[in-house]
Amino acid sequence: MEEFDAYARAADEIALSVGKFIQDFWNKPKDFQTKSEVTSVDLFTEADVEVEKRIINHFKQLYPTHRFLGEESSHSEGNEKNLTDDPTWIIDPVDGTTNFVHGIPQIAICIALAIKRKAVVSVVYNPITNEKFSAIRGKGAFLNGKKLSVSNTPSLGKAVVSTNIGYSRNQFGSAFMLNNINKLLNLKVRAIRMTGSAGLSICEVAAGRFDSFYEWGVHAWDVAASGLIVMEAGGVCVSFDENGALHTEFELQARNILCGNKTLVAEMADVLKGSKWTAKEWEK
Ligand code: IPD
Repeated sequence: MEEFDAYARAADEIALSVGKFIQDFWNKPKDFQTKSEVTSVDLFTEADVEVEKRIINHFKQLYPTHRFLGEESSHSEGNEKNLTDDPTWIIDPVDGTTNFVHGIPQIAICIALAIKRKAVVSVVYNPITNEKFSAIRGKGAFLNGKKLSVSNTPSLGKAVVSTNIGYSRNQFGSAFMLNNINKLLNLKVRAIRMTGSAGLSICEVAAGRFDSFYEWGVHAWDVAASGLIVMEAGGVCVSFDENGALHTEFELQARNILCGNKTLVAEMADVLKGSKWTAKEWEK
């Protein structure tokens, strides 16, 4: 669809522009605040807030009827927290904020447009390494213009699986994460990696560098853009309900994701299914 191409160009343009802004910030000391009142995790900086503002203003001028779901603005009263069927730009201004604060170059601007709750165009741009992943529904996924495909790794024993610890620091969250890692180790997975940016890790799956990624606790802004990229690279993306049963379709607001090639996702889904989880337990 031609309008999808125009949306993709608009997303690309603003990602590159705010990327310059982040590059200017990169070598400076960064003041940060924490979103949690009890732990020193889940950070945000002046750059997160400013970048999100610039992205929203850009799209508001181009598409005044579109809605927004942004990581930083969703916390303010009166702003969107839930997806509707309307065209909605889903934005993580700096995915990997902890990496950003600590000078670890695994960060990305993640932008997706969802229509009827499904991403149709997206861009994930790391302004430090200059890697730009992008996709348009039905038109494939690309890294700096080069077409991507997921790996064809046939089994966990040959797979590099990626996940992240996320922000839960209670006993429920720790037991949940350690239990799943333990299961993978017992199955003799080749390697486990954690990058601290869900968005980039999922794009690494699209590029065939990682074979699979899963994480619980993620929000739509962490996974919407990269989820489309991995599916357009021939991968499969699934999500689970609170009883650990598979949803029939990948849901952007499920608060979890598993992706990879079809064979590995089936094997991983067996490992992860039955992972009972509620956002309330996870976050309290
Ligand atoms: C976070 C990162 C991190 C993941 C968290 C996300 P943020 O995004 O993607 O790797 O573990 O679940 O919330 O907060 O840096 O934008």
